[in-house]
Amino acid sequence: MTAAPAFELDWLGGWSERRLRRRRPGIDDLPWGTLDLGALAPDDVVEARRVWTNGVFTEYASAAAFANLTTALLECGAPVDLTAVAADVVVDELDHVELVARLVGELGGAVPYHYDVAQISQVTDPAATPLMRALELAVTVSCVGENLSVPALTRSRALATTPLVAAVLDRLLADEGPHAELGWRVLAWAGPRLTAAERARVGAIAVAAIASFAPLWQAPACATCQAPDLGVTPPDDHGALLRRAVRERVLARLARNAIPVDPAAVEPLLA
Ligand SMILES: [Fe+2]
Ligand SMILES: [Fe+2]
Repeated sequence: MTAAPAFELDWLGGWSERRLRRRRPGIDDLPWGTLDLGALAPDDVVEARRVWTNGVFTEYASAAAFANLTTALLECGAPVDLTAVAADVVVDELDHVELVARLVGELGGAVPYHYDVAQISQVTDPAATPLMRALELAVTVSCVGENLSVPALTRSRALATTPLVAAVLDRLLADEGPHAELGWRVLAWAGPRLTAAERARVGAIAVAAIASFAPLWQAPACATCQAPDLGVTPPDDHGALLRRAVRERVLARLARNAIPVDPAAVEPLLA
């Protein structure tokens, strides 16, 4: 088996950068150059480089996920305005890629990261209808994924003391609320079209998505893996916060949307 290629970013500049800046202004106004690495604990800087390098990748993966969702919404004839929101989120996520990558640069550069971006699209059930494919992506990416990331980012922001990290987190958080809302709007639109069996399938998709994130709170906590000043929350806080987010932000809203979830499947994940 050959190793995955290094995950690297490219930037063209010029015409495309100017157009992006018109659509998403303000990134150059953040307090770049203010991070005093010498005043921080070296271990904290190492941990922050590791976590924020992973953050660049997750933002890139989110851009791909919302691009996949946009295509799926087009393929099922979803409302044009709802589809436009999904497409706009793709640009938000690409803005976040730049933002977090620049922060990693200020922290001293990325740690090695390997991933074949040709594999980045989520494979949906090929036998599903176009509507169910869109719901699979909306539930996985937004209803679960983004609804876990919002409270995690909020907690990081509350603990961050360095102005640059705080400003980066503020810019991320300003966008992530709507990213977490979009999936619920897709589900509310699709709801009346779903059979009971399709509702049960959406519930099972949600449980599978929660299970895919469960290692984040089930893995043994690494006591030294934290750098609150730089946006890396202490691990114990993090696990409890994610479990609470699953209950309050995901399961409660699935119930409000009349999506059945099997407690025997989900409760062991939260134990
Ligand atoms: Fe993002
Ligand atoms: Fe997002």
